[in-house]
Amino acid sequence: MSLPSLHIDINQPDFIKDPYDQLATLRKEMPVYLDSVWNKVFFTRHSDIAALLKDKRLGRTMLHRYSRDEIGWPPPDPREAPFRRYQDNVFMDMEAGAHSRIRSLVTKVFTPKRVESMRATLERTTHKLIDAVEANGKADFVHDIAEPLPVIMIASLLGIPDEQIQYLRPWSNAIVKMYELGYTDQQVEEANRAATEFMEMIGGLAAERRIKPQDDLITELVQVEEKGDKLTEDELRATAIFLLNAGHEATVNGSSLGLRALFQKPDQLKALKEAVAEGNSTLLKTGVDEMLRYETPLPMFERYVIEDMDFNRVKLERGMEVALMYISGNRDEARFNQPNELILSREDNPLLTFGLGTHYCLGAPLARLELQVLFSVLFTRCPNIQPDGEAEFSSGFVIRGLNKLPVKL
Ligand code: HEM
Repeated sequence: MSLPSLHIDINQPDFIKDPYDQLATLRKEMPVYLDSVWNKVFFTRHSDIAALLKDKRLGRTMLHRYSRDEIGWPPPDPREAPFRRYQDNVFMDMEAGAHSRIRSLVTKVFTPKRVESMRATLERTTHKLIDAVEANGKADFVHDIAEPLPVIMIASLLGIPDEQIQYLRPWSNAIVKMYELGYTDQQVEEANRAATEFMEMIGGLAAERRIKPQDDLITELVQVEEKGDKLTEDELRATAIFLLNAGHEATVNGSSLGLRALFQKPDQLKALKEAVAEGNSTLLKTGVDEMLRYETPLPMFERYVIEDMDFNRVKLERGMEVALMYISGNRDEARFNQPNELILSREDNPLLTFGLGTHYCLGAPLARLELQVLFSVLFTRCPNIQPDGEAEFSSGFVIRGLNKLPVKL
């Protein structure tokens, strides 16, 4: 079957804010299409996305199977070299043995026990952030609470000294601009600078930990060993940076979009406040997953087609890029009852928000815990919280979130 061709500018502010009607039409009328400008094959149905994420004929790279020459990729752009030194060592962008080698080393240190050990610090930190704004009677939820919380948590998990935490967010912001479809020369320059400074800082901390180990993840990454295998210096630095970035970017957006969604559905907000007041953690758990389904903070991920394949009669050729619209799968009427409703008690919830398959989010337990604690403390401390003006979306679709969400406490 030949693919229908079409272009949707996913970076349009209106689409970023509310892509749902267009996505519903696509799921019904053109669930797979070739975007004529991005030159990628877009998939919008839950069943297709889930199947493709488990299919080994697709991957986040092809370089584990072919040389650049074999697949006609140009040599890496030398202007991006400092950024690439970081990105080429990020295990999320690896496949097969290279990926599983680093993922299993990281899994050994980033354990459920370590995540659970963060609960008390999380509660304390959330209280402190609310203390700082409570007297004003109002706040910008994004700036004052949603953003600092995961940054402080992931930084303390890794062992970043307090005085260096301020750099993480700007560095991370500059780096993630490279993941959008289309970026400017200035953005490349900023990402290069951020990657270089970030790699240096982590290198310095790792050197200190080798001499004087601490109870933190950088120390564990320095020491981790499996069957005699260890991380190289660049892998160690890139892994720590990646954990820091992945460990807050989406969580900030997940909690901000989640609160905005609650404001739009007062009955659900009321139910959650009541559950928190009664100490009912079941609704908090299903509710956080539902918020993350209803508004997807990382709406789209891509894969390369590694070998020619027939997928549901669609011919996918080696080297093609596919764009998987998790945000659309999360609202698929074929998979979810009342997909456009926020139903915090939803139990059958196979959300695609954390991906599926070999790259399934390693930080999902931490992200869930952070959101559960945040909403629990927030509604206990501020049961009358309400919107105080319009929420503002940030630019960019691939990392989708809010710049501000003014609230009365
Ligand atoms: C609401 C918050 C979060 C969301 C929505 C999210 C989403 C995702 C998704 C969709 C993937 C898979 C990407 C793909 O399919 O190509 C992923 C991978 C990953 N995430 Fe998260 N994430 C979140 C929070 C976190 C946190 C807190 C951490 C902690 C450090 C983290 C660490 C990772 C890592 C290490 C991977 C790479 C896994 C691999 O390639 O094997 N994430 N995340």
